[in-house]
Amino acid sequence: IKLIGKDMYDVVVIGSGPAGYVAAIRASQLGLKTACVEDYINESGDMTLGGTCLNVGCIPSKALLDSSHRYSDALNHLDGHGIGIEKVDLDIPVMMQRKDDIVKKLTGGISGLFAANKVVSIHGRGKVLANSMVEITKTDGSIELVETKNIIIATGSSPIQIPSAIFDNKNIVDSTGALEFNKVPKTVGVIGAGVIGLELGSVWSRLGSKVTVIEAMDNFLPMADADIAKDSLKDFIKQGLDIKLGSKLISSNSLKNSVKISYENKEGTHEIEFDKLIVAVGRKPNVSEVFSKDSGIALDDNGFISVNDHCQTSNDNIWAIGDVVRGPMLAHKGSEEGIMVAERIAGKFAEMNYDLVPSVIYTHPEIAWVGKNESELKELGIEYKVGKFPFAASGRALAVDQSTGFVKLISDARTDTILGAHVFGPSAAEIVQQALISMEFGASSEDLGLTIFSHPTVSEALHEAALAVNNQAIHIGNKRK
Ligand code: FAD
Ligand code: NAI
Repeated sequence: IKLIGKDMYDVVVIGSGPAGYVAAIRASQLGLKTACVEDYINESGDMTLGGTCLNVGCIPSKALLDSSHRYSDALNHLDGHGIGIEKVDLDIPVMMQRKDDIVKKLTGGISGLFAANKVVSIHGRGKVLANSMVEITKTDGSIELVETKNIIIATGSSPIQIPSAIFDNKNIVDSTGALEFNKVPKTVGVIGAGVIGLELGSVWSRLGSKVTVIEAMDNFLPMADADIAKDSLKDFIKQGLDIKLGSKLISSNSLKNSVKISYENKEGTHEIEFDKLIVAVGRKPNVSEVFSKDSGIALDDNGFISVNDHCQTSNDNIWAIGDVVRGPMLAHKGSEEGIMVAERIAGKFAEMNYDLVPSVIYTHPEIAWVGKNESELKELGIEYKVGKFPFAASGRALAVDQSTGFVKLISDARTDTILGAHVFGPSAAEIVQQALISMEFGASSEDLGLTIFSHPTVSEALHEAALAVNNQAIHIGNKRK
């Protein structure tokens, strides 16, 4: 066992996902001697940084969403443009290679950023011991003990496995397996109509699989605005996704080249066979073997590392950020927590605005929102006004053939302060981001209404929705009193 002395590091970060690597870079920028411990080894046997997001999450899924969208556009959406293509080919290995190349470029980029910022990258498995000591188990089994003034735990999360569908990484796969099919399965079952189910279900459906989504809850996208949930469900069904709500998986049986499942809903018990089954029923925090009992760290009731609003554990020198702590499991949430914690360790004032963490589902059309939706405001007893603008009335949306959906802006009935923005349609994520920036500055819908938007842009729908809040939209018929 090699002991590395106390003066070596101010901060040791465990985990190099979007929470950990960002925390490490900011800590180093602030003059703190920082190391980041990571034990991830990819399919090719290389140690790569970037965590779930870069290796098997946000980035590869978005690469496949883009490729599959182009393919489906070429097949189904060019006729009206007067463009005919005789034959559209699909080369899955090339598509997968493009995705892998993007991942390689970005994960390699983190190594470059670490070097540029003088963050020491340590390959091994980190565990927090008592007295702020980190034990690092290297791949060859050797152990290093590092004394450090501060520890940031950013160990992320992993797919939840359910007893009725044990992953065999062949026919029954998690999200990582679903990013790697080497040919288009004829039929794909997806357990869970959540974010992963919809994004990866869309990928394979666009590429030609018959996709059936089995969702336990009766409600579709309960976390989204109810109008968006309703309209997007109709649209997913139109796109060919067979979404079975209120359906609970009972068992699954992996055969040679397929999976037989049985599920039940109010109509009874059903059996169905798929070539592949993707299980996407949520993720759980990586807390096992991450800290010893005497480290002073505790778990909350949901099994996440227990932290205060500043991501500090009950041990003042130990912090935890990202998917391993409460709040939405989103890359940008983890990164902002990383920045807040690094700045606090450096003695600066730093806060995180948990009320304005945006959510995006990168389907087509996109779904995105920030702030409160109508049901939440009703529950809170806050009176509000709504402005809604359909993309069908947007010149740019029509010109780019993406006129499904709408922008909904919600503001306080009394002060007009914007409380929420909800978008289903083209560039939803970018439009919500514009609303979010204005919300960070405490804008009212009148402020957005007074802002000049370029014409023609799909963002004009946000402008019109802001005007609609006070019945002043130009391009829809407002009710005159
Ligand atoms: P992670 O990214 O999980 O990183 C944790 C790292 O810690 C891992 O590399 C792990 O190997 C390492 N680690 C764990 N234990 C140890 C240990 N003991 N010692 C050393 N290292 C350890 N979010 C978005 O915001 N937008 C998206 O579009 C999006 N798409 C997604 C698509 C998919 C298919 C999936 C699965 C997730 C997606 N997410 C998305 C969620 C996003 O990936 C996570 O919220 C994000 O990666 C969490 O960051 P993190 O740094 O907390 O953890
Ligand atoms: P999720 O929580 O979004 O959805 C899981 C779904 O599975 C829920 O609708 C749930 O009701 C359902 N479910 C649970 N148990 C079930 C069962 N036994 N049978 C049938 N249905 C069942 O989780 P998901 O999709 O696995 O994603 C995990 C997390 O990863 C997300 O919550 C999100 O934080 C993150 N992510 C973010 C993305 C983005 O920002 N675009 C993309 C992908 C993932």
